[in-house]
Amino acid sequence: MDALTEAFRALGDPTRLRILRLISEARLNVTEVVSLVGVAQSSVSHHLTKLKGLDLIREERHGGYTYYSLALDEKAALWPLIRLAKDAPDEYGDKARLTELLRRREDVQTLNEKLLEPGQSWRLWSAALSSLLPPLEVVDFGCGTGMLTVELARWAKHVTAIDRSESALTKAKAEATRQSLTNITFLAADLEHLPLPSGSVDLVVVSQSLHHVTHIEAVLAEGARLLRQSGRMIVLELMPHDEAWVRSRLGHQHLGFEPTAVEAAMRAVGLEAEQQVLPTPRDAGSPFKAFLLTGTRTRKSPAKLRSV
Ligand SMILES: C[S@@+](CC[C@H](N)C(=O)[O-])C[C@H]1O[C@@H](n2cnc3c(N)ncnc32)[C@H](O)[C@@H]1O
Repeated sequence: MDALTEAFRALGDPTRLRILRLISEARLNVTEVVSLVGVAQSSVSHHLTKLKGLDLIREERHGGYTYYSLALDEKAALWPLIRLAKDAPDEYGDKARLTELLRRREDVQTLNEKLLEPGQSWRLWSAALSSLLPPLEVVDFGCGTGMLTVELARWAKHVTAIDRSESALTKAKAEATRQSLTNITFLAADLEHLPLPSGSVDLVVVSQSLHHVTHIEAVLAEGARLLRQSGRMIVLELMPHDEAWVRSRLGHQHLGFEPTAVEAAMRAVGLEAEQQVLPTPRDAGSPFKAFLLTGTRTRKSPAKLRSV
């Protein structure tokens, strides 16, 4: 009885309840739990220690990481607590984020399993294919912490990575330094008004940034303005979705887009939108589906572009 009372009291903390629910769905390490619940690692570690002390979760080492999983099954006396955690309202959208995390994990695993030849790697393949590209001047619109920027910089002549968030840029710069990449210029600026010359760029990459901005037309117009004649723009965006929590938690301004709407906005700024690829989602349960559009600057002076 004491154990039950103590466990109920411990789960009065909403963050701890969320963590227990996540671990009841999947085996997770601390970094993963931190990314899912969005609280400091020290606080997550404290909650994990508490849950472990109550024998609700167990700890195990795997591949250099410590993972946490449920320590009891449906026959256990404390199982009603797990049911309680599982059935609690998902106000923070934890379930959708967990689904995304598990999908990414599975992607990495699948890639690794497919690369059975010694010495073979996706990086090598990417380097081989990118050696066929001409030296490209690339601009990364909304680079965030630079995960995509460093991949672009492996094959681009030069990348200008732009973000309005100084903290994101600091992380992106640290990653570029860690990877000894010297062909990136970082720029703190608003994507709607860029201090860059017109017609100077071969490729503008807009990956997962449009849903953060208020006026997508203004951002696309800036991208089109920067492009040389025949320069290309790549837009990676989310399909319309109903996950309203992304507004307050992630600062999204739009709950995805209809690809045709983005395509029309690209045309309006003088880009010929050529392709629309809708990758089949690997995980049908994920509410986030992405689409890809590419466009080419064909007109010399589209009416809507300001000149710098
Ligand atoms: C979700 S991140 C995308 C990161 C990266 N491009 C990727 O695909 O992984 C979106 C980034 O756009 C930036 N951003 C949003 N609106 C912006 C604006 N008006 N000007 C500059 N950066 C902006 C945010 O600060 C954020 O870092």
